[in-house]
Amino acid sequence: MFRREPFEAGKRVKAKAQAEDQELRRLALDVLTRSDRFDYGYQWTWLGLPIIQLPQDIVATQEIIWACRPDIIIETGIAWGGSVVLYASILQLIGKGKVIAVDVNLMDHVRRQILDYPFSSRIHLYKGSSTDPSIVSRIKEQIGPGQSVMVLLDSDHSHAHVLEELRLYAPLVTIGQYLIVSDTIVDDIPKQSHRPRRWGPGNNPKTALKIFLAECSGFEVDRTIGDKLLITCAPDGYCRRVAR
Ligand SMILES: C[S@@+](CC[C@H](N)C(=O)[O-])C[C@H]1O[C@@H](n2cnc3c(N)ncnc32)[C@H](O)[C@@H]1O
Repeated sequence: MFRREPFEAGKRVKAKAQAEDQELRRLALDVLTRSDRFDYGYQWTWLGLPIIQLPQDIVATQEIIWACRPDIIIETGIAWGGSVVLYASILQLIGKGKVIAVDVNLMDHVRRQILDYPFSSRIHLYKGSSTDPSIVSRIKEQIGPGQSVMVLLDSDHSHAHVLEELRLYAPLVTIGQYLIVSDTIVDDIPKQSHRPRRWGPGNNPKTALKIFLAECSGFEVDRTIGDKLLITCAPDGYCRRVAR
């Protein structure tokens, strides 16, 4: 009765059909846009630390890490540390791997809280800009020969910064692993006037990713993830490395 293969096949069919339901997609975008006015994406924690992500994206990332089992996860943008702890806690359960993360505003108390977790030996934190050449080379030095690498970009969401990050970090992603570009949703929703930011429609991670994917053929957008999420901060932002 509980056979996994037909269950998985049925899920894929339903997710695709769900994604083709234009009215449902419009409603999902409405929910996201309206709930964002109440900082919906700021209301969650992972193992006690605030994580600035939608629950849907947290689950999707968990699925990817568990399936791909990377040796190294690099994240730009730490904020309160919840996402770093999410990745490291899953790696701890897998039994291998480390998280390398960078934030230009990394606060001492946040660093202390992150490094207080029992699996903190898996976590390496840097304070500085993700595009600072000295930070990039210190991060690269941590990657051993043959190690598999996943990258998540979640720092400054302006077009220019994300494009620079993509050119610096995406080449580190190994075949079969993911490049996750957060907040591509900014291109799909009205300018967030309740939360003034330098980015908005036309100047955001999605516009940067579009340029990057045109200049680098080694990645493909995994639409199966967006199809099932419906509500996500990273539409078309889940990219799998398929070739060098
Ligand atoms: C959206 S938050 C990160 C959220 C976090 N990944 C999470 O899921 O909880 C963005 C973070 O990027 C950081 N940031 C902004 N510009 C940056 C830069 N140039 N380099 C590194 N971090 C940056 C900010 O200080 C902020 O903490």
